[in-house]
Amino acid sequence: MLFTTRIDLPEKVRTPVIGLLNERLAETIDLALQVKQAHWNVKGPNFIGLHKLFDELRDEVDEAVDDIAERIAALGGVAEGTIQAVGTASKLSAYPLKLTTGHAHVEALASAVAAVGKSIRAAIDRSDELKDASTSDLFTQISRTLDKYLWFLEAHLQADR
Ligand SMILES: [Fe+2]
Repeated sequence: MLFTTRIDLPEKVRTPVIGLLNERLAETIDLALQVKQAHWNVKGPNFIGLHKLFDELRDEVDEAVDDIAERIAALGGVAEGTIQAVGTASKLSAYPLKLTTGHAHVEALASAVAAVGKSIRAAIDRSDELKDASTSDLFTQISRTLDKYLWFLEAHLQADR
């Protein structure tokens, strides 16, 4: 379903870009849920630092989710953000429910952030090829944030190297 709009991007651009945005929307919503899962369940000596870091990351991911969804609407599309739609569309690995230690949660989140970071980076190029520079710029902004938080997470794992 594509709404009419005065935006100067033709349907043949908007349709595939909306598809690309909805794929990334599913992944970022999945990531947001995974981050909160870690925020709630992390235990161990670094509890408070990780608990707060994960919440900060959740805020950043929520902003990305909202920006992606609103871009879809701006292009005349329908943002597919229900749990059912996301459950079907997200290609992220399921977050393990049994993790407890800070190390295990940081490892799991680093993998999830890296996976989303990789597909967002691919989406920068794809939206650029489709000649939607504004969507490409949005993905670029999200990519930079995810790279930064991957660094924050990996810094906890690299102390001895
Ligand atoms: Fe909380």
